[in-house]
Amino acid sequence: MNSEFKPLKIRNFEVEHPIIQGGMGVGVSWDNLAGAVARAGCMGTVSSVGTGYWKTEAVRTINGRPLKPVNFHHSENFKAILRSAMEKAAGHGAIGVNILCAVTDYERQVRDAVESGVKYIISGAGLPLRLPEYVGDADVALIPIVSSPRVVDLICKRWKRHGRLPDAIVLEGPKSGGHQGYTYEQCMDPEYQLEVMTPKVLASCKAWGNIPLIVAGGVWDKHDIKFYLDQGVAGVQMATRFIGTYECDASDTFKRVILKSRKQDIKLIKSPVGYPARGVITTPLMSRVLGGIRPKITCISNCVDPCNHGQESNKVGYCIADALGDARNGSIDTGLFFTGSNGYRVTKLQHVSELIEKLVGLRVDDDTWIEDPNVPDELTLQAASAAG
Ligand SMILES: Cc1cc2nc3c(=O)[nH]c(=O)nc-3n(C[C@H](O)[C@H](O)[C@H](O)COP(=O)(O)O)c2cc1C
Repeated sequence: MNSEFKPLKIRNFEVEHPIIQGGMGVGVSWDNLAGAVARAGCMGTVSSVGTGYWKTEAVRTINGRPLKPVNFHHSENFKAILRSAMEKAAGHGAIGVNILCAVTDYERQVRDAVESGVKYIISGAGLPLRLPEYVGDADVALIPIVSSPRVVDLICKRWKRHGRLPDAIVLEGPKSGGHQGYTYEQCMDPEYQLEVMTPKVLASCKAWGNIPLIVAGGVWDKHDIKFYLDQGVAGVQMATRFIGTYECDASDTFKRVILKSRKQDIKLIKSPVGYPARGVITTPLMSRVLGGIRPKITCISNCVDPCNHGQESNKVGYCIADALGDARNGSIDTGLFFTGSNGYRVTKLQHVSELIEKLVGLRVDDDTWIEDPNVPDELTLQAASAAG
């Protein structure tokens, strides 16, 4: 049996299957997951955010929280995670990083990644306008995340001044996990759904010299992958389905929350980063936040610029660094558990190699979930409340 899909070529490297495992912070995609994904012939992405939570011995903390950006985004841990991911990949696939533009110390993280010899950098949650400057002459593929053709034009125009264009582009639609590139209303608007945006962004990528387009957000199985490849995209980025793997770096508690989640438990919430974020809302932390219980928050890690040292955390009722760090550490009471819209479809754990074989048609995909016809999806719910 052969894979149903062609390899994915970006800049000067090629991977066997056209699948990128999306970066997932804090600590959901580190060395184990990214290494296993690359080993299976795909692109395995290490998340750069909150690496102070990886191993804490060398990290300065207060009340268990990494102190300031230098400890939260911990250089030595980050480099060690990358070394370990590359060892696990054993020369297969490609190891790269996901670095959020919104993080404090963005430039340092980019330089750490380049120094570690990553093959690619994926960057979103803001516009990575200065990424080529920070990378310099290094032979690293640069892959911005966009939400529209307008953003493609903006980035390409700016990067061209530095003699570069993106080596590929990720279009992330509003069914993704974690932070969205759209407003809440746009996420619910049929016009902004991935299948509608794809041809528009594809046209921009073609106009800028056939930049390979990768699509993300709600891609679940080989039929979805085929649907997008048939339209001319080069590959897909998937994250949520990888949470259901043994190799995923998330805590057992994290995996259990996703495995137990139902469709109606997954919603968009406000985040101190300034974008809506999708996660499981039926957890103790979210029940308190949504119920209006909002204790004063002291900012210890200073993780992202848009939060303004905790100002936004105090408005939305939780600290994103603490909540994601606690999810990483397995605290059901205080953790925040991000997932894409498809989180409820993750019903079991399996090995990454098995999952990838299913995704490319080398193995029967027998992962099933029970779709409850009485539970409408988020879009239908929104339309109903707008009409009512
Ligand atoms: C738990 C979780 C954490 C995520 N964290 C990040 C992140 O730190 N940076 C980022 O650019 N995208 C992040 N994402 C988005 C994914 O990289 C990916 O593009 C998206 O979730 C794809 O949609 P899917 O989950 O439906 O496959 C996260 C997604 C999940 C599920």
